[in-house]
Amino acid sequence: VSHLLGIKYLSKDDIDLIFETAEHFKEVINRPIKKVPSLRDVTIANIFFENSTRTRISFELAQKRLSADVISFSAAQSSVKKGETLLDTVNNILAMKVDMVVMRHSSPGAAHFLAKNVKACIINAGDGAHEHPTQALLDSFTIREKLGDVHGKKIVIVGDILHSRVALSNIYALTMQGAIVKVCGPKTLIPKYIESLGVTVEPNLTKALNWCDVANVLRVQNERMEVNYFPSTREYVQQFGLNQTLLDSLDKEIVILHPGPINRGVELTTEVADSPHSLILDQVENGVAIRMAIIYLLASKIK
Ligand code: CP
Repeated sequence: VSHLLGIKYLSKDDIDLIFETAEHFKEVINRPIKKVPSLRDVTIANIFFENSTRTRISFELAQKRLSADVISFSAAQSSVKKGETLLDTVNNILAMKVDMVVMRHSSPGAAHFLAKNVKACIINAGDGAHEHPTQALLDSFTIREKLGDVHGKKIVIVGDILHSRVALSNIYALTMQGAIVKVCGPKTLIPKYIESLGVTVEPNLTKALNWCDVANVLRVQNERMEVNYFPSTREYVQQFGLNQTLLDSLDKEIVILHPGPINRGVELTTEVADSPHSLILDQVENGVAIRMAIIYLLASKIK
């Protein structure tokens, strides 16, 4: 069985095929009839052990647009709360003849664990601070759509790199496609091994923005912070927050990505988040086509 566990396990050819397929599905979902019958005989379970708005709705819509049967499971309202294990939970769902599982979990490696231990196709919708492959693919797809190509583009990932599965998956995806990548954030939120992944660190936000074509701005993940780990929110906003005055002072125009949800007034001001330079809602729109492509390509290997 094939899975999507992380960008690390894909090739450039895999990414190109996903983008080509997503372009087709983007055209489909902009037609008056948005649905295709491709996955009429496929049943998919979305199991979410962590909160989600975009990823969960986007996967569910992608599956419905492909005519799959869909069940969505939230751990918070399930028998997980009575102590049922992850494997028991998933094996019971699979006993109802489910073909594919989309899972978000707070533990890094949870998707790999499932892939090794159950008989179903697994898609990782985010595993702790490890990977969020569909987010990175929709981010690159959005950059490609706006700037023509990812190859050769200068991209800075700003903020809380340490806790970010979005940062890690983006670094794998962007470097594989030939982008030049920097990270920028407080020293306490940049892991020591980051340069071994083929990126450089720029501690000064103004310099990073003056260098880049694209700034992918991350959410400050307060829920994953340890106490006293981090500059105060006020210091963060002063040193790493993007505001319109800062963007106006740059030598060039750049585009802004953010995976959502936004802490408005922290990593981005409302003015920047809602400006024409922001591709945030394009990312969300493209997420459905990207997820349709991934599900379609994986489903072709299970039937
Ligand atoms: N970008 C993203 O993963 O958002 P959600 O947590 O709302 O799914």
